[in-house]
Amino acid sequence: MKKGFIFDLDGVIVDTAKYHFLAWQNLANSLEISFSEEQNEQLKGVSRIRSLEKILEWGNKTISEEEFTRLMHEKNEEYLNYISKMDTSEILPDVPRVLDYLISNEQAIALGSASKNARVILEKVELISKFNTIVDGTNVSKAKPDPEVFLIGAHQLGVSPENCIVFEDAVAGIQAANAANMISIGIGNPKILHEADYVFKDFTEIEEEFMNNLVSAKKV
Ligand code: BG6
Ligand code: MG
Repeated sequence: MKKGFIFDLDGVIVDTAKYHFLAWQNLANSLEISFSEEQNEQLKGVSRIRSLEKILEWGNKTISEEEFTRLMHEKNEEYLNYISKMDTSEILPDVPRVLDYLISNEQAIALGSASKNARVILEKVELISKFNTIVDGTNVSKAKPDPEVFLIGAHQLGVSPENCIVFEDAVAGIQAANAANMISIGIGNPKILHEADYVFKDFTEIEEEFMNNLVSAKKV
């Protein structure tokens, strides 16, 4: 029986979390709002709109709708500028090994990302063909921690949620995977991602035996 493996994009497949941070930081600076790495952690996995709302809340600022739209556009333009320079060197360590392992074991693979730029990024790093389906910010109406993005992914893969495994670097993403009744695997800091079923610093720590156990559904 096939398992469904669903990967977040930013901070899991590629190191774009740093570009989101830089772009939000510049925007916050321009509004004279201070913005720390701890606050940035709370923006991981969170949609573009909700991220700007949170930054404005932190800075106690109210702006017009037009200004809001303009700032979101500006942030995305700066982000796209970083993205345009990306190549395969920005794929996070051992991601291709894990994807190729799953492909050679005939598992179902989906992307489950909040980003509206997901397809562009996957094309830039030449990984788009590894995915059976892509669910991104253009397909969902409810942002993580809502499980919608992963439930759509499971549905498109034709795998039931309890047979899906999610790889995530964001607290909101782990909560979404748990709410979807999927196995959640945190990629990053175990202190931050303590709600995950398993946490690894990065994919280099994930051994073949662990993957084998996930595929064959033995208790890992
Ligand atoms: C998530 C990122 O994957 O996508 C967030 O972790 C980001 O930081 C969100 O805000 C939306 O991305 P985009 O590319 O549509 O602005
Ligand atoms: Mg992420």
